[in-house]
Amino acid sequence: MPGPSPGKGLWENGYMWPSNALTERLKLKYPILQAPMGSASTPALAAAVTNVGGLGGLGMWGRTAEQAARRIAGFRQQSGGSLNVNYPIWPDPRCAPEITDAMRRHLQLRYDAHGLGAVPEPKGEVSDVGPDHVALLLETKPEVVSFHFGLPEPEVLRAIKSAGMFVISSATTVAEARRLEQSGVDAIIAQGTEAGGHRATFTGTDMSMQPGLFSLLPQIADAVSVPVIAAGGVADGRTTAAAFMLGASAVQVGTAFLRCEEADVLDAHRAALAEANDACTVVTDVISGRACRYIRNKLIDDLIESGLQPLPVPAQQSLTRPLSDTGHRDWTALTAGQSAALARDTNAAELVERLAEETARRLRAFS
Ligand SMILES: Cc1cc2nc3c(=O)[nH]c(=O)nc-3n(C[C@H](O)[C@H](O)[C@H](O)COP(=O)(O)O)c2cc1C
Repeated sequence: MPGPSPGKGLWENGYMWPSNALTERLKLKYPILQAPMGSASTPALAAAVTNVGGLGGLGMWGRTAEQAARRIAGFRQQSGGSLNVNYPIWPDPRCAPEITDAMRRHLQLRYDAHGLGAVPEPKGEVSDVGPDHVALLLETKPEVVSFHFGLPEPEVLRAIKSAGMFVISSATTVAEARRLEQSGVDAIIAQGTEAGGHRATFTGTDMSMQPGLFSLLPQIADAVSVPVIAAGGVADGRTTAAAFMLGASAVQVGTAFLRCEEADVLDAHRAALAEANDACTVVTDVISGRACRYIRNKLIDDLIESGLQPLPVPAQQSLTRPLSDTGHRDWTALTAGQSAALARDTNAAELVERLAEETARRLRAFS
């Protein structure tokens, strides 16, 4: 594992920040990545993170190439620094009619209670970084392209890598990390079970068995030779310092950035994050069709109690989204990780600077 190189690094806050393949290549002042988080990660959020010395990320979940182009242009207008563009990978969602009908019937009563009309037919298609997205990436050349739920087809990966973009994907087990390394990624995100958002697994790992970051991170760091980025529960100086001690070359932070004013987050979601505690989240596939960690609420309990099988991602999400869009706290998808209570209302520059300062202080205390 390429750890900190002695004598290299940035003297900041009285601490020599580890310099490694990742920070050098991406010219990062701080080894802090803002997780790309679907629509919550706005161009303003990503630009603010990059401008202060971290790495900003834009999620392209369900976006057309035109929409993706607008988001990248929005970032470039606000920052001349590095950008991480992120794609989820999933197959065409095949919805069995009997499963679809049962789910639509169940949701109709909930739609009626909110005056939402008829539950629509489920929507959604394959997410595989198609030719229009590849063309966009080759034209706009974001410094980093990252993937969730595995990797796209080898020829897509080759095209992106040949154009000089740095490729990252997430692993939830050592076996997944080894597979990503063999496929040629430049860095691996170790995603612990604490993480907010979707489980990154692409091998069908039973998510009740997903390891916590404290166990996963050192084992992935031992198993691969590319830099490892820690994700899941990293939200303050203590958790960031711990990640470096456990073998990380950088951290990727999601939930704490949801509290930033630049994030696109519903008021009800912000209120729930502000009241979160250590034991308020649950991993379930009932909202989107794929295992994801949320603050538990009525929407989740209702769907779990129904015993109905969710449709595959993103078809299930297309049915629950109108309820979520009502902005009613009981019926909105409140995505969050287990360390939500460590975060506070802030802005992106302040959060990155605070993480850097607190981490440096923690690490200095042990040096
Ligand atoms: C609201 C939200 C949306 C997310 N969306 C994505 C995404 O689109 N792509 C991705 O790679 N990871 C996504 N993630 C997961 C993060 O990459 C990361 O694994 C996680 O946020 C780290 O844990 P933390 O939330 O405790 O910081 C999302 C996380 C959150 C909280």
